[in-house]
Amino acid sequence: MFIFALGALFTLGSAADDKSAGRDEGQILYNKKCAICHSKSGKAKKSAKGSGDFNDPGWQAVATLEQIIRDTTEGRGKMMGYGKKLTPEQIEMIAVYVKSLGSESAEGSAVE
Ligand code: HEC
Repeated sequence: MFIFALGALFTLGSAADDKSAGRDEGQILYNKKCAICHSKSGKAKKSAKGSGDFNDPGWQAVATLEQIIRDTTEGRGKMMGYGKKLTPEQIEMIAVYVKSLGSESAEGSAVE
């Protein structure tokens, strides 16, 4: 897939498994840059008021990868855009990771 290919390119060298490479990098970036407000689990903290919970299957059902990339790049409401701080490749990897949060909680134990 295009996104994984980009991620694999970016992390070339450290990547043993092409498919998980982008996601791992995305997770590291997410935890560093986004978790302060959106929390590691994806549930919006007070500082991300107005944002949906990324681990909510209902949010995941309507959020597209393109939309996450756009909101992250350009910013949305009170959230600043990361277009100048992160490369498009990094933003894509983060978006892939954000999309993966919902499927994890859907597969895991029941969400209350
Ligand atoms: C300083 C706190 C803060 C940080 C850091 C932050 N966000 Fe946000 N984010 C917000 C707020 C507040 C909103 C709600 C904006 C609105 O619509 O009013 C939001 C909204 C979003 C949305 C849209 C959510 C929806 O309901 O559709 C996405 C996607 C998003 N953020 C991704 C990210 C990503 C990816 C990062 C890391 C690169 C990040 N955010 C970092 C505060 C933050």
